[in-house]
Amino acid sequence: MPVITCIDDLKRLHRKRTPKMFYDYCESGSWTEQTFRENTSDFQKIRLKQRVAVDMTNRTLETEMIGQKVAMPVALAPVGLTGMQRADGEIKAAKAAEKFGVPFTLSTMSICSIEDVAEHTSAPFWFQLYTMKDQDYLRRLIERAKAAKCSALVITLDLQILGQRHMDLKNGLSAPPKLTPKVLADLATKWTWGLEMLGTKRRSFGNIVGHAKGVTDPSSLFSWTAEQFDPQLDWGKIEEIKKMWGGKVILKGVLDPEDAKMAAKVGCDAILVSNHGGRQLDGALSSIRMLDPILDAVGDEVEVHLDSGIRSGQDVLKAVSMGAKGTFIGRAFVHGLGAMGEEGVTRALEVIAKEMDISMALCGKRDIKDMGRGDLLIPEDFSGRWKD
Ligand SMILES: Cc1cc2nc3c(=O)[nH]c(=O)nc-3n(C[C@H](O)[C@H](O)[C@H](O)COP(=O)(O)O)c2cc1C
Repeated sequence: MPVITCIDDLKRLHRKRTPKMFYDYCESGSWTEQTFRENTSDFQKIRLKQRVAVDMTNRTLETEMIGQKVAMPVALAPVGLTGMQRADGEIKAAKAAEKFGVPFTLSTMSICSIEDVAEHTSAPFWFQLYTMKDQDYLRRLIERAKAAKCSALVITLDLQILGQRHMDLKNGLSAPPKLTPKVLADLATKWTWGLEMLGTKRRSFGNIVGHAKGVTDPSSLFSWTAEQFDPQLDWGKIEEIKKMWGGKVILKGVLDPEDAKMAAKVGCDAILVSNHGGRQLDGALSSIRMLDPILDAVGDEVEVHLDSGIRSGQDVLKAVSMGAKGTFIGRAFVHGLGAMGEEGVTRALEVIAKEMDISMALCGKRDIKDMGRGDLLIPEDFSGRWKD
């Protein structure tokens, strides 16, 4: 059993054990990948303040996200094709999250369906919605999430049109993968992945195939997706979706203070400051840089969460100390899944929790809710001075 001490260890194993097409799908950003890189490098510009001679017994990372108790302020982000990183990946990740006591978010573009995940878990999970042109399908999807007792709807706002990731085009990304000679040569070194995949029936988009009109076979799916994502989404439509849902809502993909104000005005339980992990607008600023201006704009009105670039417990600590009520991790848990299945997701959560707990103690704090701006050193020009 390899010794896992950090998320990078899981990433290395993920790369070794997962078909190249799916590892690349995870570990890439759009176009030049500037935003993807800065999401992580900007975290390193913020420093934590070391304090000493403070009682550090009885520490707790427990807090709440949208009124829900969480073992630490970290949720699993919605990640499409998770069930291609490892057979039944969404079920495995959801089980690990449930056992750990953090929320799991199921993507619209998952391999395991809403019903599959509900059947294999007992804690309510969150459902991420891409807004579609096909209103019938959208309505039914929302009804299915309600029937599965999902406890929040995460509406993604930053993917009305798809940013380009070069590797996905070069690799011919598809689910299931097309068995070209190149893919077969790659699979020959990934036996465990292949055997596990042969043992499951879940190998295409479980929320879509058989549910959306005209999508009975997966090969038509990518064109369906390109045609179906709604380029006319606006705040009025978001309000309608909110009404259809009638429960808790997180608006995901907000990166601008003006948009944050609109999100708060429309009404939601939280906004998620995110640039989709650097997979959409290349050249946008990192999420952690945009956190302050967004907190200034709406921090008193609505709960603010953050994702994009979190690879450690120290990163979570920095985001929370800056003022985020919660965070989401994408690649960090996918590396765990690709490396070691459900156990790997648990390891990823354990690594992050331990890093957060010990670093919090070294900052002289015992309760995550007590961490604040005073525990950070933030460069004066961190948010940047940019000419409009
Ligand atoms: C492989 C991959 C697939 C993703 N699929 C979705 C998705 O289906 N829906 C969504 O709202 N966000 C999706 N995201 C974005 C994540 O929810 C999240 O915003 C992002 O991963 C956070 O950045 P991080 O990976 O640096 O933690 C995806 C991200 C990755 C890496």
